[in-house]
Amino acid sequence: MTAALSPIDKAKYIAARRAVEFVEDGMRVGLGTGSTAAWMVRCLGELIRDEGMKITGVATSARTAELAREVGVPVKTLDEVRWLDLTIDGADEYDPNLNLIKGGGGALLHEKIVATASDQMVVIADLSKQVDTLGAFPLPVEVIPFGWQTTKALIEEMLSNVDVLGRSASLRLNGAEPYCSDQGNFILDLHLRRIANPAQLSLVLNQIPGVVENGLFLDICDVLVIGNADGTVEVRDINNGTVEHERIDITDTENLFVDSAE
Ligand code: A5P
Repeated sequence: MTAALSPIDKAKYIAARRAVEFVEDGMRVGLGTGSTAAWMVRCLGELIRDEGMKITGVATSARTAELAREVGVPVKTLDEVRWLDLTIDGADEYDPNLNLIKGGGGALLHEKIVATASDQMVVIADLSKQVDTLGAFPLPVEVIPFGWQTTKALIEEMLSNVDVLGRSASLRLNGAEPYCSDQGNFILDLHLRRIANPAQLSLVLNQIPGVVENGLFLDICDVLVIGNADGTVEVRDINNGTVEHERIDITDTENLFVDSAE
């Protein structure tokens, strides 16, 4: 029941529920990773089950692919589908220009490839992700395991020449071992606190040998959907310059909540 959900989960669900309204029959849809994206995958499963909608999903992580199959969303690889109509994904931070930090869930590489291969990217979030300037959330950087300590040192040296407030990097761990991405790479989290020039930082990071990709998603998000626990939702479209406020009726969603609250 809805009472089983925390306010933050309700907010995530509301954003996801509104975002799937962008999905049309026959679309090829990129499926993001994370707790907010998981709600979106469940909502897509409902649309397929209850309304007979036909879509093809391309998952950005093994765990999203598993969930999609569980809830009845057909999954293909990006190579099978090649190009997508739409990607819906979460974010760790968004700024007023809809630039993002992503990768808190470790899936940034596949997420960036999938979002870039999409006609449109819709980001789903709650207000806790909103910042004036990116950087409070540690910036994830995917690096290859070979020589990762050298790569880390090169990144920290580079950071002394860019306009950020913090300059340390830490290896993401999974218990006592390095966290491994679906691609078998490691993640370095950069504790920058404030990134004055995200475009410059993204460029210089990706020039360092050993860096595969960074979690700055710049000029990729087209629409941001911000859910609130009270059922209200804000839809910001960066291309049209519009901001719309709506309310989602959640009274008919109890089955979904029961399924997911277990
Ligand atoms: C996954 O790698 C991330 O990019 C997620 O999109 C991000 O961490 C948001 O996750 P939540 O929706 O769980 O906050």
